[in-house]
Amino acid sequence: MNNEYDNEKFFNEYAKMARSQNGLEAAGEWHQLRPLFPKLDGKKVLDLGCGYGWHCKFAVEQGAKQVLGIDLSKKMITEAQKRNADECIQYQVAGIEDYNYPPNTWDCVVSNLALHYVENLDEIFKKIYQTLKADGIFLFNIEHPVFTAGVGQDWIYKTDGTPKYWPVDNYFLSGQRNTHFLGCDVVKYHHTLTQILMGLLNNQFDIAVVEEAQPPKEMMDIPGMTDELRRPMMLLVKAIAKKKR
Ligand SMILES: C[S@@+](CC[C@H](N)C(=O)[O-])C[C@H]1O[C@@H](n2cnc3c(N)ncnc32)[C@H](O)[C@@H]1O
Repeated sequence: MNNEYDNEKFFNEYAKMARSQNGLEAAGEWHQLRPLFPKLDGKKVLDLGCGYGWHCKFAVEQGAKQVLGIDLSKKMITEAQKRNADECIQYQVAGIEDYNYPPNTWDCVVSNLALHYVENLDEIFKKIYQTLKADGIFLFNIEHPVFTAGVGQDWIYKTDGTPKYWPVDNYFLSGQRNTHFLGCDVVKYHHTLTQILMGLLNNQFDIAVVEEAQPPKEMMDIPGMTDELRRPMMLLVKAIAKKKR
């Protein structure tokens, strides 16, 4: 599996983003994601595609007793160990597709902005269901299907360089999208809304919350931020692994 986050140029550009420099408070979705976390006191939390480990550290601050952050990128894991180390957190280089998902182990599985790098979501949902304890929570934020559908995943621009509209194309053709992000070619995967939500229901999850991220009022002065109200970029879902006890 190829991961652009291990590419020096991409990694350095990612490091310049506000969310990389200032953590969760600088992430436009955090004001909506944070309230969706269950109580984590004494719980075991798995973070898929943990990046710098912000959510792992947050889980420990909320009282989680054991946290595992996995990420395909060695560079991201090294950064997580530097920035968000804690004796309750273990970081591991592993693909979301390759982790062994031990049965009935985790109270909460979280994944922020990593699942659009996964081709076969259904297979991962199945594994996450198995690895969660009864009534365990699966909380994720994935790039929104309206955002991922278009071929280039970018605005169509006016002659003055400002965004004219966001193209949605080939919506029902799910699968690979070759995008240009942070000056690099990045492969992502488009999944339709039905594939995401029915994928959960078909894998025995109950869906508790669905939200589309909008930037908070305090961020509206940041240049370009008002354009975030023109199309949804992120889909937040909280699901419950219903099992017979
Ligand atoms: C946008 S970053 C988000 C990082 C972190 N979850 C956060 O919100 O700060 C996406 C992360 O997913 C990781 N990633 C991409 N594909 C992956 C895969 N197949 N398995 C595990 N991690 C993956 C990348 O290396 C990167 O760290």
